[in-house]
Amino acid sequence: MIQLQGITQAYGAHEALRGIDLDVAPGEIFGIIGRSGAGKSSLVRTINLLNRPKAGKVIVGGRELTALPEAQLRAARREIGLIFQHFNLLSSRTVAQNVALPLELAGVAPAEIRQRVDELLDLVGLADMRDRYPAQISGGQKQRVGIARALANRPKVLLSDEATSALDPETTRSILGLLKQINREFGLTIVLITHQMQVIKQVADRVAVIDAGRIVEQGRVIEVFTRPRHATTRSLIEEIVPQALPESVLARIRALMTGRPAQEAQLLRLAFAGSGTDRPLLSDIVRQHGIDLSIVHGQVDEVQGQPFGSLAVFARGARERIDAATAHLRGAGVHVEEVAHVG
Ligand SMILES: Nc1ncnc2c1ncn2[C@@H]1O[C@H](COP(=O)(O)OP(=O)(O)O)[C@@H](O)[C@H]1O
Ligand SMILES: [Mg+2]
Repeated sequence: MIQLQGITQAYGAHEALRGIDLDVAPGEIFGIIGRSGAGKSSLVRTINLLNRPKAGKVIVGGRELTALPEAQLRAARREIGLIFQHFNLLSSRTVAQNVALPLELAGVAPAEIRQRVDELLDLVGLADMRDRYPAQISGGQKQRVGIARALANRPKVLLSDEATSALDPETTRSILGLLKQINREFGLTIVLITHQMQVIKQVADRVAVIDAGRIVEQGRVIEVFTRPRHATTRSLIEEIVPQALPESVLARIRALMTGRPAQEAQLLRLAFAGSGTDRPLLSDIVRQHGIDLSIVHGQVDEVQGQPFGSLAVFARGARERIDAATAHLRGAGVHVEEVAHVG
């Protein structure tokens, strides 16, 4: 649905985008995450050519926008909805009038505008707020108005630039829930720009990580979460699933070691994802390989309705038995990392 090919973008001598290639499939929620200044807003503004790239092609719905003359580009932009962090509502217009604006600009007949605005306000749950002004509604409600306005011209693509960054966690959840509902109901393709992994975790199907104007990693969310490769990805995930072991845990492991100098022991980090987590894998491991396992730290969460998590386990037993257990775990799809070897 959206293809970006070799996009570069610069502000004077500063290169904000350095060769971006992306392919967003129809009907998916594609997350783009990065730190402040990474180039996210520059990238999202490139998709609808609010920023024209210095080089590269932008193709949306099979049409190369970078090759269109201005008049056709204006029409093509109507197929791309946009929502913002600070909502960008007109304070002098009511909720209903804000939603009506893009329809007025597109020259839609007044009767049709009224009907479409009613539909949109129902969709975002704001039918009873239609005559209020932006100053009289909450942040979450303002973003619902922003979403209704963005959908007014029935776009094929919705771009969201930090749309939940100004909202509290609970309101964020409800806005993301609404976006997901719209995605499922209308098959709308959504590009979700954020600096929060929590947002990616809640709704994205795939994610790309942007760092200093480059995509450094991308893939299905559950895969990127369980096997992050790039340091930036790891540190962003760290915010929701801490990867480093707290000192208290390490102290407990040292205590477990005292008085057992002869024994081999390893501290392993197990990262797992998907339905395989229903099996009594750890019991199997202990029984079959004759080792001891203590869980010293862990976190289990859910991504896209699938369990995923990370456990630190302290394994004790002969080295070759621990190695066999590790191989067994890997064979079952668990990502195993040796955190520390003691023995
Ligand atoms: N209009 C501009 N003029 C000059 N530099 C800009 C402009 N917009 C963004 N930048 C710079 O480009 C880089 C990427 O910015 P931006 O795309 O806004 O990042 P993000 O949205 O990820 O925070 C930053 O270093 C920023 O300072
Ligand atoms: Mg930005």
